[in-house]
Amino acid sequence: MAGAKKNKKKKPDRQAFLANKHDLYQRAVQEPEADIEFMEEIFRSKFKRDPILLREDFCGTGFLSATWAQHNPTYRAIGYDLDSDTVNWGVEHNLTKLDSEQRSRVDLRIANVLDAPNDPVDIVCAMNFSWWIFKQRRQLIEYFSSVRESLAGSGLFVLDIYGGKEAYEEMEEEHEKDGFDYIWDQDKVCGISDEILCHISFHFPDGSKMKRAFTYDWRRYGMKESQDILIDAGFSSVEVYWEGTDEDGEGDGEFTLEHQAENTDAWIAYLVAIP
Ligand SMILES: C[S@@+](CC[C@H](N)C(=O)[O-])C[C@H]1O[C@@H](n2cnc3c(N)ncnc32)[C@H](O)[C@@H]1O
Repeated sequence: MAGAKKNKKKKPDRQAFLANKHDLYQRAVQEPEADIEFMEEIFRSKFKRDPILLREDFCGTGFLSATWAQHNPTYRAIGYDLDSDTVNWGVEHNLTKLDSEQRSRVDLRIANVLDAPNDPVDIVCAMNFSWWIFKQRRQLIEYFSSVRESLAGSGLFVLDIYGGKEAYEEMEEEHEKDGFDYIWDQDKVCGISDEILCHISFHFPDGSKMKRAFTYDWRRYGMKESQDILIDAGFSSVEVYWEGTDEDGEGDGEFTLEHQAENTDAWIAYLVAIP
């Protein structure tokens, strides 16, 4: 009887157990080449030269910084992230993919973005809505002001933002990726504080799940509100690059400078702040 009981035991969560959450995150969420292409194009059009030094705030595994160094032999990157496990994973898995010369042009630092020195850089970026970590407007102004101080006359601050009806709803969306499903769970949305609690989970073909691999406790800032805060922090202007849509109404990955846009169910945009 004991043996029969044993056979009924749940199978171990095999695919979920074998997978690494940082690897899944990079494959599900990040497109560093697209970010780089966008930042390069805007920087070149404004300053008629190539950017060199990128500061990647909230760099996580430094995937973007590593790709930046690989992308052009003159490019250098400094990344800041508080989480040592995440940064160390990135050093081990993203930086080791670079040759030693490329590796020498990337510096990932375990530190708070608020403590980043004001050394001049060409571009500061804060991707995947990481700047929503600052729930108080005064904290966000402090952060934006410190970024502003790091940008000389010819520098840019690039950050992304999402919105639309669905950004105000408790909802879950599932995306099929290569070998797993990526689940974005906007678990709690507060109508008063604009705070949102979100999780990322991964589901596998064998039925195993990596639940709540990442959790984000953020305040969602509105589109115009974010532009106003950037101006209050000392930027002279802010441009909005809005994503186009394909024939199915899905985002097409093409971002163009816009001054008006329909507030669709779900949209993503880049903000480019100019000192
Ligand atoms: C949403 S992830 C973004 C990772 C990556 N930049 C991307 O584009 O996917 C947010 C990251 O911000 C980091 N973080 C949160 N607060 C921070 C702070 N004050 N200073 C530096 N890093 C911070 C977290 O450790 C986490 O790795």
